[in-house]
Amino acid sequence: MNEHPTGDPGRHRTADEGREPAPAAEDTGRLRERIAAELGRVRERSLGLTVETLDEAELVAQHSPLMSPLVWDLAHVGNYEEQWLVRAAAGQEALRPDIDVLYDAFENPRADRVNLPLLTPDEAREYNDRVRARVLDSLDRAPMESGPALLESGFVYHMVIQHEHQHDETMLATHQLRRGDPVLPGLAAPAPRAEAPPGPAEILIEAGPFMMGTTADPWAYDNERPAHTVDLPAFWIDTRAVSNAAHMDFIADGGYDDPRWWSEQGWAWRTRSGKRAPAFWHRDAGRWWRRRFGRVEPVPPEEPVQHVCHHEAEAHARWAGKRLPTEAEWEKAARHDPATGLSRRFPWGTQEPGPRHANLGQRLLRPAPAGSFPGGDSPTGVRQMLGDVWEWTSTVFAGYPGFRAFPYPEYSEVFFDQGYRVLRGGSWATHPTSVRATFRNWDHPVRRQIFSGFRCARDAGEV
Ligand code: AVJ
Ligand code: FE
Repeated sequence: MNEHPTGDPGRHRTADEGREPAPAAEDTGRLRERIAAELGRVRERSLGLTVETLDEAELVAQHSPLMSPLVWDLAHVGNYEEQWLVRAAAGQEALRPDIDVLYDAFENPRADRVNLPLLTPDEAREYNDRVRARVLDSLDRAPMESGPALLESGFVYHMVIQHEHQHDETMLATHQLRRGDPVLPGLAAPAPRAEAPPGPAEILIEAGPFMMGTTADPWAYDNERPAHTVDLPAFWIDTRAVSNAAHMDFIADGGYDDPRWWSEQGWAWRTRSGKRAPAFWHRDAGRWWRRRFGRVEPVPPEEPVQHVCHHEAEAHARWAGKRLPTEAEWEKAARHDPATGLSRRFPWGTQEPGPRHANLGQRLLRPAPAGSFPGGDSPTGVRQMLGDVWEWTSTVFAGYPGFRAFPYPEYSEVFFDQGYRVLRGGSWATHPTSVRATFRNWDHPVRRQIFSGFRCARDAGEV
């Protein structure tokens, strides 16, 4: 599944034809089976983060004003599924039109949701089950091959699956903010070892055009579309994400107290917040500790730093004599193959993400050491672009040339050009179905509760 940057006559294709047909050409019966299986798997995950691990009081509590009560997320994913799969895709009558307003993310800011007359955990679970039964019942009749655009190649089903996985990652961020005894299984799993030889610290990405975004990927959100050519000057990019050890050096060198490294906005955040270390870190007995899902442990030096905001990432990069990559640079380093001129769906190619490629899908509840997963290298040898930590870029979230809101403007378009910064690559908490080399995430530059880190880049003007 590749996309080609230019109209080179020797291998001329349109953006769509440049892709190897993968899920798009899948037989409809198999596509339906895969959708049903993915729907089942994502619900298992949602229940494991809510009703199976926390009591009612914890499910309805507001663990942080930055986050929804977990019971809101639970019924919200069911309501989203009802709106898109029961009503829009199957054309059936609404089950609970009366609760739409409660679970509308725009009507209700996160901090206010705890005060709404929400469904109880039992009611939410029962409602989600009723919605799901309708969905599975109508799945066999959904016209996926040549149906309306919403259903083409299973798009709207993929959208709903991804939406629930995204909320599961958000729920993990809520778990991380929650105080109290640890409840998540797998916390004690030993840190994975970086099995790979270190290799070069930076890679030169040559100047030239590449194909950014996608037109035909049946999982892609509107903000990833359409595929378009972007021409970039040469640049260097780090093969690894910035580690906790490097960030401890930044701290020890007075980085948080030196305005030279910070943007004006960043320094304003730094002084206003008083923060001098990543979220969840504290210093005791001469070393750094972190709290992770209710357990305190020494900060592992070899892991990518996480829970830093855009401002901290930018300041660290400047201190290191570098900068954050632009979003286009990140994507070119992740998927452009200079040998063929094609852009890959994943850094390593077209194979679905597996354990040798990346740390995704909450298999571990932490990042793997920086430099792990040589099996996931990009064509130019940039490592670990998917999984572990979301990577801040310097780019403000905006629409690509030719963007069309589909199927609704509130997923992406209303966030364009508002100062949100783009993050790329997914984290250890991101499900494999919900990330690819074109996937775009965004957040306010001050946010640290997400599983965010960064890697550095620099100009290559001198070569
Ligand atoms: C893409 C993570 C920024 O959580 O606000 C969930 C995903 N959109 N429901 C968000 C989303 C609608 C979105 N992010
Ligand atoms: Fe949502």
